[in-house]
Parts: sequence; structure tokens; C-alpha cells
Amino acid sequence: MDLTAFPYLQGNYAPIAEERDFDEAQLRVEGTVPAGLLGAYMRDGANVAFQPKHYVYPLDGDGMVHAVYFRDGHVQYKNRWVQTSHLLTERKFNRTIYGSVGKLLPVPQDVIDAGGEANPVRNTANTNVIYHGDKLLAMWEGGFPHLLNPDLSTVGLYDYEGALKPGDALTAHPKVCPTTGQLVSCTQRWDSPNYWVQVFDARGRHLQTIPVEFTRKGIIHDLQITDNYIVIFYAPAFHSVEKAMKGENPFMWEPELGTRIIVIPRSGKGGNRVFETDAFFSWHYCNGFERDGQIVIDYVWINSIPFTQGQGTGVEKQPRRMHRMTLDLASGRVGDEEFSDIFCEFSRVDERRMGKPYRYGFAASSNRDWGDAHGYNCTGRFDFETGETRLWEYGPQANAGEPVHVPNPDSEREEDGWVMCFVHNPGEGAFLSILSAGDFTGGPVCKVHIPGRVPNGFHANWMQHLHL
Ligand SMILES: [Fe+2]
Repeated sequence: MDLTAFPYLQGNYAPIAEERDFDEAQLRVEGTVPAGLLGAYMRDGANVAFQPKHYVYPLDGDGMVHAVYFRDGHVQYKNRWVQTSHLLTERKFNRTIYGSVGKLLPVPQDVIDAGGEANPVRNTANTNVIYHGDKLLAMWEGGFPHLLNPDLSTVGLYDYEGALKPGDALTAHPKVCPTTGQLVSCTQRWDSPNYWVQVFDARGRHLQTIPVEFTRKGIIHDLQITDNYIVIFYAPAFHSVEKAMKGENPFMWEPELGTRIIVIPRSGKGGNRVFETDAFFSWHYCNGFERDGQIVIDYVWINSIPFTQGQGTGVEKQPRRMHRMTLDLASGRVGDEEFSDIFCEFSRVDERRMGKPYRYGFAASSNRDWGDAHGYNCTGRFDFETGETRLWEYGPQANAGEPVHVPNPDSEREEDGWVMCFVHNPGEGAFLSILSAGDFTGGPVCKVHIPGRVPNGFHANWMQHLHL
């Protein structure tokens, strides 16, 4: 592959060519693996398998999941591509067939005639990997999720036993309510501007659909739940399939429209509330909760969608900062404050506090110029009780991925758990970092070194009790 034309396929963003299995003898454990953990840290990401003709970070690239399994203080590692119909078709023809969400290509007739995937929009399955209702799913927000086995082999597309209809695109950012075990998710469609909240019970059975009408299809990536509400940001960010098919920049940012915050009752009753603010964009929430007649939302604020210049193929120098928003349900007033001036993304929380008052947020963070090396060299901890932001830096040129809070099975306290992420540090290589959630000062309590590269990726989760 010649990747020189693609800034976001350089360095540790470049793909790897192998699927690997490493047992504990091949991994090098530095420090002590926390005892008592049974489960797996899994992270999805983009790993192009064939020479790309066009590439938009972070929306393109074949999905690959990397996993570190924990059992009785021992660890194992695997990585596998998700066997999507697009990847299988390209493998069958041994060439690049599909384009990018930034530049779609018509599917050649010989590919269609031979039974290859006919949809020009690649379901990359590259964005997130979740484990809910005993189902392990690789997710991408433009289509159905892919069902995986615990060993990361692909079963195929999963439609939630018929709940998803052809053309439904399920978000890659569902939230699990710790009180009910419900998975709160949403579908959008390429052929409609509307949005549908989808609720599944703790076993993954479809319970409820709540429709939300829009006049224009917006780019809505994440959602946040509280005990009683679902909150989404409807920013003036739009994508046009027609423009992508013509090879034009399909991403639009129209700040004069402002950003609307839609508050949807989880009961589906009582109507939605709409709050209006100046334009901003956000990929990710950290958490949200209800307090004294207000909804509090912590999220990573960005000044605009990062695709309007160069379709995301250049290095984006934009501020990304943790903000706290308050929505006053009685007055309709919106408050918004910068919590920290640290550059951050991929914000997470102890999932047992999802939608509830909490103390700590975690995010991939940077203490250097984003434009210098375009990566996050720190794990950040945001203490919403004291206002303090604490960073652990892995090295000036390191890249740290999404930090996932892993609860201590013997404690309800956030600070007694661990924070895990993959790190690539030139000179040190790839490792899974395990920090103590309550004490960043000494750095990782354990590093699981992986004898090979783990490219930078997207979302990760702790799969409690999942094992090989
Ligand atoms: Fe995301």
C-alpha cells in the first residue's frame, strides 16, 4: 500500500497486516495484573485492508478489534478484522472496490453480477465494540452492527431479531442504564432526516421506539441518558450522499443555524424539549444527570465539525475541551462552562454512574500541540467534585487511546477501579496501560506489553465476565 497521500494513515495511524494471538508467555507484563478481574478490554478501530482511494478520518477504514482477556490474574491478546461484506468482497476480488464516505464510488457491474456487496457505502464496523444482552457487537453508525464471537470471529450482521429494518443505521454510541440494564440507542436512516430512539431490555430484546422529527438530516454521533431523559445535540452539521457521489465535499457546517439540544423523556410521554444555543459540535458525552430541576451534561466541546476543510484528510487544529452544560427545565435557560482547557477526546465514566451524579470523568488528553503529532499523549482524569484535572503522560510522542473505567468487583467506589487504554509509545512499543482510577501519580500499576503494533483506534469497553 502507498499511504503517503493520507495524513491520517501515517505513524501509528497506519494499518497492520496481521491477525495475531499472543498468550501470556508472548506478552510482557510489567507490574501486577489486578487480581479478580474476569472479562476483556476490547477496542475497535479503522485498519484499511486494501489501498484506499480516499480516506476521511475518523469515518473510513475496515474495522479491526483488539482484545486483552483477563482471567485469574492472567492475560491473553487477540486482534481480528470484522468480516464485513465489503471486506469479504474486496478480498474475493483482491482489489479496492469501495470509496470513502467523503467520496463514494459506484460499485462496478462485474462485482454486482458476481454477488459482491452492491452498497457503495461501506459498513466499516470500525467505531465501537459493546457487550450487552450476551451479544458482542462491533458497531458503525451508518448500518447494522456485526455480531462477533468472544474469540472475535465474525458471525454476521445483527438486526436485533428483526427490530432493525433494512436501511436502519444503529448508533455506535448506545448507553446502558445501570438501574434497568436497558440499552438506550437510536436509529437514523440514509433516506430520512428523522431520528428514532430505540430501547432494548437488559437481555437485548426490543422494548420501545420513540420518534424524533427533523427537517434536515444532521450528524448526530452520540447520545446521553439520565434517569428520566435522553439528550442529543443537533448541531448544524450535515452530510450529503448526493455530494459524496459527485466527489464533492459532502460535509456542511452552517453555524448561523445554531445548535439545538433535544431533551426526550425516556417514557416517551410528555413531549420533547428543545433548547437553543450558539453553534458548537461534539463527538462525545462524558456523562449526564439530573439535579435540582436541571439536567447536567458533561461533554467534549468542539467549535465546529472538523470536515469542512480538506474533508478531514488534513491535520485538524481545533480546540476540544471538557465542558459542563446545564439545562434548566423550568426556565429553558442553557448554561455552558469550560471545565478544563486541556485538549481531550474520547471521554468516559465509571459505567455504574451512567446517567447519575458522579465524580470522575476520564479522557484521552494531550499536553502538547495537537498539530505537532496529532495524537493524545496522556490519560486525563477530570474531578468534577474538586475541579481538578490530572494528567498521566506516557511520553512526548506517545499516543493513548480511549480510557475505559474498569470497576473493582469488590468495591462500589469509582476510585477503587482501574482505567485501561492502549498506548503506543515510540521506543517502548504498544501496551495496555492499567492506571489506578484513584491515583494517577505513580503512572500505570501494570503494563501489558504487546509484541507488535496496535494502531490508534476509536472506542473501547470492558466486557465484564466475557472470556474465551
Ligand atoms: Fe464516537
